[in-house]
Amino acid sequence: MNKYAMKVSELNPGEGYKIGTGLVVPRPIGWVGTRATDGTTNLAPYSFFNMVCAEPPMFVFAPARAARKDTLANVRETGEFTLNIVTEEVAEAMNATAASLDPGVSEFDACGLTAADSVLIDAPMVEECKANFECKVTQITDIGHAERGFALVVGEAVMMHIREDIFDLETMRVDQANLKAVGRHAGNVYSRSSNQYEIERPA
Ligand SMILES: Cc1cc2nc3c(=O)[nH]c(=O)nc-3n(C[C@H](O)[C@H](O)[C@H](O)COP(=O)(O)O)c2cc1C
Repeated sequence: MNKYAMKVSELNPGEGYKIGTGLVVPRPIGWVGTRATDGTTNLAPYSFFNMVCAEPPMFVFAPARAARKDTLANVRETGEFTLNIVTEEVAEAMNATAASLDPGVSEFDACGLTAADSVLIDAPMVEECKANFECKVTQITDIGHAERGFALVVGEAVMMHIREDIFDLETMRVDQANLKAVGRHAGNVYSRSSNQYEIERPA
C-alpha cells in the first residue's frame, strides 16, 4: 500500500497537530492540579503528558503557549503541581475541567470535585481519583514555534497516593484491571484500558 509523504514545512497550521494526535494514541492524560498565587485552585487535563524518568519518578506535560493556560502560569509561579490519574469513573469530570472559566473560578468548584490538600506541596489533589502524585517542577523549557509552540514542564514526584483497593503493598504493583485508566485519541475520542493482554519479553 502506498503512503502519503508530507513535508511538515508545507503543512498548514494545525495539520501537524491533527496528524500527530491521531497517530500517537492512546495518550495518557495528566490531570494537573495547581494553585494560583491568589489561592485559587486550578485543574486541567493535558494529554501531551508522560512519565519520563524512573529515579526519581519524573513526569512531563506540555501546555500550549499561544492561549493563556492557568496551569502554566501557576507552575511558573509556584513550582508545584499534582498529577491526578484519569480513570473511567472521572473521565467526564476530567473533560468538564477543560472548559475556559473566568479568572478566580476554580474547576474543582465548577465541576463538583473535591480538592484534597497535598502533604509535601501546596497544590490541590483530586480526592475522587484513585491515585495522585505530588510533584515539584524541575525544568520548564519553551519548545517549538515562537508564538504557537508549547512549554515543556518537567517535574519530579515527591509523594504518591494510591487507593488501597488497586494496590498491593507486598509487590508494589498496581492492579491494572481495576485501575480502569482512560487514554485520549484524536479530538473527542477516548479509549478504555480494559482489553489488556501480555507479550513475553525476550531474554
Ligand atoms: C483530554 C484533554 C487533553 C488536553 N491536552 C492538552 C495538552 O496537552 N496541552 C494543552 O495545551 N491543552 C490541552 N488540553 C486543553 C486544556 O485542558 C484546556 O485548554 C484547559 O482549559 C487549560 O486549562 P488551564 O488554563 O486551567 O491550564 C486538553 C484538553 C483535554 C480535554
